[in-house]
Amino acid sequence: MSGVPYRPWSFEMKVHEGAEATVSKGVWLGKPAILKVRKPKGYRNPDLDSRLTKSRMAVEVRALSRLQRVNFPSPSLLYVDQQDSSIIISEIEGFPLFEVMVNGNLEEGALSRVGGTIRRLHENGVSHGDLTTHNIMIGTDGEIFLIDFGLAKISPELENLGQDLQVLNECLTASHSEYSEAIEKVVEGYISSSTSVPEVPSSSDVTQRFDEIRNRVRYLG
Ligand SMILES: Nc1ncnc2c1ncn2[C@@H]1O[C@H](COP(=O)(O)OP(=O)(O)OP(=O)(O)O)[C@@H](O)[C@H]1O
Ligand SMILES: [Mg+2]
Repeated sequence: MSGVPYRPWSFEMKVHEGAEATVSKGVWLGKPAILKVRKPKGYRNPDLDSRLTKSRMAVEVRALSRLQRVNFPSPSLLYVDQQDSSIIISEIEGFPLFEVMVNGNLEEGALSRVGGTIRRLHENGVSHGDLTTHNIMIGTDGEIFLIDFGLAKISPELENLGQDLQVLNECLTASHSEYSEAIEKVVEGYISSSTSVPEVPSSSDVTQRFDEIRNRVRYLG
């Protein structure tokens, strides 16, 4: 956003410095917002690096705009600057599922609603690609939101849908092992909220594929 004399973005604070992105909180045209600037990873090949950064941003923009059209609970896109690889999105008021679980504040039923939200994402023809508990947020009224769509796929294959459940399963096992049957609750919500959508694999196909992936990993690991 260089060279713009009037800056409608007003910075408040940095909230996250990750491997891929710097995320800050601020105000965009009067509304609480998040600025996410993707940075090159410093690979040896700078051209490839810059292409990867740009493609992740383009993917995130495409997924968010598609989801916005169907009122999916994800941030709304407010501004895109391709040159700087940055986007401004609406701020979600709430906490990452990771923190909620680590602090022992998880409400009964929340994991099942997480599963329902994942199914809704899939029914809209999108896989997430990085479904960890850091990329799931719980709003102040307990609503579930998904964020961070840089690895999403539009028109995903069955394998990508099964992988979404497996990534979350691995994260729940590795970081939240004190919650027993957590993934089962997610899967239960995934199945119970599913409807039949043409061109989208059924919830039983997806959970079956998830079980296959899980077993594959077990035997290999
Ligand atoms: N719209 C939002 N509302 C509120 N908080 C957000 C929002 N977007 C991102 N955050 C916060 O910033 C963190 C990082 O954002 P995001 O997941 O989009 O970046 P990232 O690409 O994962 O960075 P990393 O390189 O570490 O993986 C999130 O886990 C969340 O805590
Ligand atoms: Mg993230």
